[in-house]
Amino acid sequence: MRKDERLPVALIGAGHWGPFLARSLEQTGKARLAWVCDRDPERAQRVADRHVDCRTTTDLQDILDDRVVTAVAVATPANTHQEIVTRCLEAGRHVLAEKPLTTDAASSRKLVELARRNNRVLMVGHVFEYNASIRGLKEIIDNGELGELFYLNFERTNLGPVRLDVNALWDLATHDISILRYLLGKDPVDVSCVGRDFLHEGVEDTVFLNLGFGEDGPMAQVHASWLNPRKVRQITVVGSRKMAVWDDLNLKAPIKLYDKRVEADRPAGDDFIAYKTSIVDGGMFAPSVRTNQPLEAECAHFIDCVRTGGRPLSDGYSGLRVVTIAECAQRSLAENGARVPVPPAMPGESGGG
Ligand SMILES: NC(=O)c1ccc[n+]([C@@H]2O[C@H](COP(=O)([O-])OP(=O)(O)OC[C@H]3O[C@@H](n4cnc5c(N)ncnc54)[C@H](O)[C@@H]3O)[C@@H](O)[C@H]2O)c1
Repeated sequence: MRKDERLPVALIGAGHWGPFLARSLEQTGKARLAWVCDRDPERAQRVADRHVDCRTTTDLQDILDDRVVTAVAVATPANTHQEIVTRCLEAGRHVLAEKPLTTDAASSRKLVELARRNNRVLMVGHVFEYNASIRGLKEIIDNGELGELFYLNFERTNLGPVRLDVNALWDLATHDISILRYLLGKDPVDVSCVGRDFLHEGVEDTVFLNLGFGEDGPMAQVHASWLNPRKVRQITVVGSRKMAVWDDLNLKAPIKLYDKRVEADRPAGDDFIAYKTSIVDGGMFAPSVRTNQPLEAECAHFIDCVRTGGRPLSDGYSGLRVVTIAECAQRSLAENGARVPVPPAMPGESGGG
């Protein structure tokens, strides 16, 4: 019989998202689920039942005592990540942590440093960075087809799932912050955010987040809410030459490219009457883009990084930057939308972890 060369991996957290992670890890063909840990033994058992030779526990220490398991995936609520990921890294495990890495920048920074010190892979499950159509959109932006970028609008709405542990900014908008960083390859310089807790006091279910890239950079806005009649996962990118719309729910044509723009012509003399604008409408084209299973691609990337010691695309450091931006947005939210500067990355901070 051939030796099983798949990497034994443990899943911590078997609620809504954990089972998808478990399935995707095994679908890569590169990993096998060796353990499931959940505070609720029935949930752990339900997931384990779908995998061969998978043990269950309610005590993380059982997994950390098993030297065969070198990598773990953490899918517990965001406010538990700091403690669980710390224990796993201290015990020498490679970690794939669900987003957001933690709920404050100081603790995320500690995790990044711990991973670097212990020479372990720390990856954050910013799954959209592994989405082939998001990569297609990035190619369109990078090859200059849209011209100068004017603004990006993100919409992430649905009716539920309602969360009580974190608000829509941390639960939903962190996806868009990671996509925005990925698309533009840079961080915003400031943010402002307003939102309301219509359903549960103290937990904003609806937020509007503005991200600034300076006077010469594009504007970006995120609308995130679990209190909305429509499930929408869309990004509109408006450039000086063309415009693009990405729609995650349109499986056949996730990207639409619009040859549309407004040409403004201001003749010499600054005569207001002579000021002309013309609408250019060259129609819409849906480029063929590759589609994939983003979560499976994310899991495969994690296993590859564990095996090779490579640095993940969505490494702990990029997770820290997302948390830093979200933290600034949270401060703005508390100050009724005040503009909050985003601290720049510290020199030497990027890379590793
Ligand atoms: N990438 C994505 O698209 C995506 C989608 C959904 C959720 N998530 C993320 O996944 C994480 C989990 O979200 P969820 O919706 O599955 O939450 P959930 O509440 O449905 O499940 C969390 C599970 O963790 C267990 N748990 C809590 N504390 C624990 C501990 N200390 N030890 C062991 N088990 C513990 C709970 O019993 C529960 O079963 C969050 O970070 C969330 O942001 C990511």
